[in-house]
Amino acid sequence: MNRVNVEISPAQWCEIPAIIDLLSAAMPVDGITSARFTRQVLLDPSHDADGFLVAKSGNTIAGVCVAAARNPPLDENDAQRGFITLLAVDARFRRQGIGTKLIAAAEARLAARGRSVVLVSPYGPGYFTPGIDIAAYPAAVNLFGKLGYEQASRPISMQTDLWQLKEPEFVEQTRRKLALAGVKIEPYRVELTRPILDFAQSEFGLDWFTTYHQTMQSILRGDDAGRIVAAHQDGKVLGISHHDGERFGPIGVAASARGRGLGHLLMFATLGNQKRAGLRCAWFLWSDDRTAARLYHAGGFKEIRRFVVMRKGHA
Ligand SMILES: CC(C)(COP(=O)(O)OP(=O)(O)OC[C@H]1O[C@@H](n2cnc3c(N)ncnc32)[C@H](O)[C@@H]1OP(=O)(O)O)[C@@H](O)C(=O)NCCC(=O)NCCS
Repeated sequence: MNRVNVEISPAQWCEIPAIIDLLSAAMPVDGITSARFTRQVLLDPSHDADGFLVAKSGNTIAGVCVAAARNPPLDENDAQRGFITLLAVDARFRRQGIGTKLIAAAEARLAARGRSVVLVSPYGPGYFTPGIDIAAYPAAVNLFGKLGYEQASRPISMQTDLWQLKEPEFVEQTRRKLALAGVKIEPYRVELTRPILDFAQSEFGLDWFTTYHQTMQSILRGDDAGRIVAAHQDGKVLGISHHDGERFGPIGVAASARGRGLGHLLMFATLGNQKRAGLRCAWFLWSDDRTAARLYHAGGFKEIRRFVVMRKGHA
């Protein structure tokens, strides 16, 4: 087959509109708008201009790839990790080796930054998707497999209809029982600022801290305090839950407080807040099958997409 000649280089700012057009056409199920791309790539605090790559045939953008790595890293393990967060080749240029070349260039850029593991594509907190959508992008699953990437996990995205929201009976019983034990479940209040942030950081890490921190800023500028819900007892936070419009989560309970039903109470508190805010559905991008069965099914959540996280290299 005749292969078109392409040059791989860092993207120029004037190419950004064409890049966004290419991405939104090539990844139609991901709603990649100009605002979303700007927030998640250009405004990324770790943005690396040399990892934002385009493949060009003459002046035409044939493909794009974003290689990202957190700077500073979250921890020692994270210091080994790099991510391919976006990859797309214009439909007119496919099956000519351009995707392969973009991935090689992204890997080289990540290696130059000392990253020995490459993951597609769970770059939190602002990932586009946790992995490759298996049904929507089978070519990408094949391509990364061919290049030596292993399937690391298969997260699911779920959605529930808030208009049909119905609390199972056991939830009210749990609520009464925990209330008697002194557990309070309530929306964000300023006194809870540091306890919630400290809890988010120590139980779940910097990503969660950042998400809750940003939402507190939005609440203090006028957003509904119910965007954050906390469970606490004797002055100690036991769990937290969050939403951003229809997007549900992250939700988490302290390892030492699991198995008491707090996850269900937090989930229903947040779903109730979303419903009261006038939203029709709630969804999230990332869970595993076990948590889906133990928690989300009770909230009416159903699987809507399945991803595969692909990984190359070891720490
Ligand atoms: C995935 C994508 C980037 C591949 O780009 P590309 O330039 O066509 O890839 P390459 O030409 O380098 O393909 C290399 C190999 O990948 C596999 N592959 C690529 N496209 C494939 C397809 N449609 N079906 C099956 N295998 C495919 C083949 O093994 C191919 O080798 P071959 O052509 O010798 O058989 C492109 O199809 C695309 O933009 N898809 C939509 C967006 C997307 O899926 N993005 C990734 C989301 S995470």
